[in-house]
Amino acid sequence: MKKQLAVFASGTGTNFDAIARACADGVLDAEVAVMVCDKPGAAVIEKAARYGVDTFVFSPKSYPSKAAFETEIVKILDAKKIDLVCLAGYMRIVGETLLNAYEGRIINIHPALLPAFKGAHAVEDAVAYGVKVYGITIHWVNADLDGGKIIAQRAFEYDGNDPAEVHRLGQPIEHQLYVETIAKLIKS
Ligand code: GRF
Repeated sequence: MKKQLAVFASGTGTNFDAIARACADGVLDAEVAVMVCDKPGAAVIEKAARYGVDTFVFSPKSYPSKAAFETEIVKILDAKKIDLVCLAGYMRIVGETLLNAYEGRIINIHPALLPAFKGAHAVEDAVAYGVKVYGITIHWVNADLDGGKIIAQRAFEYDGNDPAEVHRLGQPIEHQLYVETIAKLIKS
């Protein structure tokens, strides 16, 4: 039985695309069973449709609390027997409802070399600091924001001051590293 993945995203979904393509091509012995998105209208939703991936798209505002929407999410993950949750640009802090049910099975990709430059503006912060070596981190998700145990990292050099260029250089590295890391995790 192929491993069942859930991918959570809020935006463009290029990492979702890389993971879904790797599954479709047989590069990953896995299936994206659901894509969870907290931003109705996000571009990632169309990408999921193109791959025929089921989606759970919700508006956090229409729930009374984080616990309420995470309870819905946990129900879906349980029903789909998800082995691994891959956060891929999910711009929301995972709460205790989801952590209680899935901690140890949730990973995230972060566009900086943790523990430096945590948070939502990692690339902008790294450029403002003036670093010359940038990178990507994949880590386990726990209650500590961007603070879980590191699984994989990859660095690249850039000597400039354009965050858009750092994103452009980092993207293909993200896609490759995410697929490679998922492959290792679902084997072990
Ligand atoms: C990536 O830069 C990732 O590191 C960060 O959010 C971004 C998602 O990009 N967590 P995309 O939606 O996968 O293109």
